[in-house]
Amino acid sequence: MKRFFLTTAIDYVNSRPHLGTAYEKVCADVIARYKRLCGFETRFLMGNDEHSQNVFKKATESGLDPLAYCDQMEREFRRTWRHLDVSFDDFIRTTEPRHKAGVTDLARRIYDAGDIYDGVYEGWYCVGCEAFKQEKDLVGGTCPMHLTAPQWIKEKNYFFRLSKYQRPLLDHFAAHPDFLQPAVRRNEILRLLEGGLEDISVSRAGQSWGIPLPFDPSSVVYVWFDALINYASAVGLGGDAALFERWWPADVHIVGKDITRFHAVIWPAMLMSATLPVPRQVFGHGFMTMNGQRMSKTLGTIVDPIEAADRLGVDPLRLYLVKEVSFGGDGDFSWERYDERYTVDLANNLGNLVSRVTAMAERYRVGVVRPTAAGPGRLAQVGEQAVADYRRGMDALMIHEGAAAAFRIIDATNGFIAATAPWKLAKDPAAADRLTQALFDAAEAIRLAAVLLLPIMPSSSREILRRVGVSPDGVQLDQDGRWRADGERRLRQEGPLWPRRESTMSENPLPPDAPAPGAIPAPAPIVPASPAPAAPLAPSTERISIDDFMKVELRVAKVLAAEKVPKSTRLLKLHVDVGTEQRTLVAGIAGTYEPETLVGRTVVIVFNLKPAKLMGIESNGMVLAASPDDGGAEVVTFLNPPALGTRVR
Ligand code: MSP
Repeated sequence: MKRFFLTTAIDYVNSRPHLGTAYEKVCADVIARYKRLCGFETRFLMGNDEHSQNVFKKATESGLDPLAYCDQMEREFRRTWRHLDVSFDDFIRTTEPRHKAGVTDLARRIYDAGDIYDGVYEGWYCVGCEAFKQEKDLVGGTCPMHLTAPQWIKEKNYFFRLSKYQRPLLDHFAAHPDFLQPAVRRNEILRLLEGGLEDISVSRAGQSWGIPLPFDPSSVVYVWFDALINYASAVGLGGDAALFERWWPADVHIVGKDITRFHAVIWPAMLMSATLPVPRQVFGHGFMTMNGQRMSKTLGTIVDPIEAADRLGVDPLRLYLVKEVSFGGDGDFSWERYDERYTVDLANNLGNLVSRVTAMAERYRVGVVRPTAAGPGRLAQVGEQAVADYRRGMDALMIHEGAAAAFRIIDATNGFIAATAPWKLAKDPAAADRLTQALFDAAEAIRLAAVLLLPIMPSSSREILRRVGVSPDGVQLDQDGRWRADGERRLRQEGPLWPRRESTMSENPLPPDAPAPGAIPAPAPIVPASPAPAAPLAPSTERISIDDFMKVELRVAKVLAAEKVPKSTRLLKLHVDVGTEQRTLVAGIAGTYEPETLVGRTVVIVFNLKPAKLMGIESNGMVLAASPDDGGAEVVTFLNPPALGTRVR
C-alpha cells in the first residue's frame, strides 16, 4: 500500500490554540483525509512544543510544575483539535521519552560528524521567537514579530556548522524544485541561501527546562533544534528502527511562513549532517489575520476556533478556512464574512440544493430515482471535469482549488435544475423518463460533490451521501470519484442541513410549486423547567397518548417584528421566522409585553395549527406561554436558543 507521512508544526503551549494555529491543523487535516481518500496509508502527526522558556515562565506564573502545566495544555489542545474534526494519527510532546531518545540520537550523530563545536554566543535573543537575532532582524531595537525588546545574552554555546551546508542545500533545491512550496517561499529562501549561512547556536547554558546535550549535560538543547527533531523521533529515531525505516522521510511538513526557514534550511542541514534522508517537501502556508490585523491578545484580535465552530458548525468553519484562502497566501477572517459565506455557500447553495433535490424526488418519485433510457445529461461531463480539476489541485496541495472544483459541480447542478425545471416535466406524462433521469443526475452530481468535499467537510459530506442514498463508508476516490449510473437510489428528504440565519431569510429557494423541505430532525431541546407552581395542580382527568402529543408540532421560532393589534388590548401581531419560512401570528400577550421587547426573542410556536382569523388578521400558529389563571403571560423561551425550526417535544 502506498504511504504518506505528513506533519504540522508543533505548537507552543504557553497559550491556547487560536484560529491561526487551527488554520494550519485544519488544512493539514484536509490533506491527510484526501490522501486517505486516495487509498494511501497515512500517518498524520501533530504535537506540542514544550521546552520553550515562555512555557516554563507561564507554568511558573500559574504556580504549576512545568510538566503538570504541559499536561493540562495537552488536554486543551487535543480537545480543540478533536472538536474541529482534525484526524491526527499521532500526537507527540517534546517532553516524551521517545522524543528525548530521538534528540539524543540526532545530536550525537551530528556531533560525531564533527559539525558541532563549542564557543561563546554574544548577541540578541527574542524569547517570543525563541531565536537568536541579528541587528538587521530588529526594527527600532524590537522584534518586529513580537514587538518586544530582545535580551542581550552572552553564554557558552555549542554551534552547528550550518555554513557548511550552504552548497549542499542549494544543490538540493536545484535538484528538487518542489522541495519548498509555494514558489514565493522557495524564492525567498533561495535568496537567503545564496546570501550565505552562518553557524547557529544549538544549546542554551544555565537552563534546566530542556533536553540535556548528550556530550555536555550541563547545557540543554536549544528549543528549535529540539523541536525540529520531533518529526523523526515520532517515527522511531533513536528507538524503533523498523518504524523509522517504514515512515521516514516525511512526505510533507506543513508549517507557517514565519518558520519556513527553520524547516527548509536548518532541518535539512541537520539531517544531511547526520546522513539521514531529508523530508520530501516543506509547505509554508500564509497567515490568518482577523479583520486585517495580526491575531494578538493585546489587540483583541484572537479568534477562538471553538467559538467560531460553535457559531455555525465545524464544517462551515473548515470550509471557510479552506475555500476562502488560497493555500500558501495570507487569509483574513471576519465574523461578517464568515456569516456571509455560510449563507451563500451552504444555506443558499449546497444545503438548499440537497433539500430541493430530495424534496422533488420525494414528491415526484416517492424518493426513488434511477437512470433511464433518456441517458445522462451534461452534468456527467461537468462532474468528470471537476473531479480531474480537484485531483490536480489537491495533489499540488492547492486545497482551495479542490474546494472550488467541488463547488463547480454544485453550481452546475443548480443551473441544471433551473434549466430542466423538473416541476414542469412533472406535469407532462410524456416526460416521465426525462424527469426521472433529471432527478437521478442531480442526485448523482450531489453525490460526486459530496465525495470531493469529504476531506473538507467530513461529517456534512457523509450526511449528504446518506441523504442521496449511498453509503458514506469506505468511500475511495478511484472508484467513487466518477460519474456513476449504477441503479436505483433511495433519497431521504430531511430538514435543512444549514438553516438560514436571520439576515438571510429573504430568499425563497424553491420554485413556486415545488415542495418545501421537510421536517427538521434535530434532537429536541429541553425547555428549562419553570419554577414550582404556587398551588398544586389539579389532578389530570384525562391523559393523552404520546401519539396524541406528537400530533402537535411545536417548533422553535424567532420574533422578527411585533406590533399591537389596533383596537385590541390583548392581542399582538407577531412576524416570526421558523427557519424554513416566515409567518404571521396573533398572540394574546399584549397585557404583559410591549411589542418591541419581544423582537429578537426565540420562542416556541404551535406550527401545525389551522389558520384562524383574529381581529381580521390571519394567525398561522400560536406562541407558547405560561398563562396563570389570574392573568398575565410568560412566553416560553430558551437559555441557549437552538436552531430555528427545531422541533420541541
Ligand atoms: N513551536 C514552533 C514550531 C516548531 S515546529 C518544529 C511554533 N509554534 S507556534 O505555536 O508559534 O506556531 C505553530 C504553527 O502555527 C506555526 O506553523 C505557525 O506559523 C502557525 N501560526 C501561528 N499563527 C498563525 C496565524 N495567525 N495564521 C496561520 N498560521 C499561524 O512556531
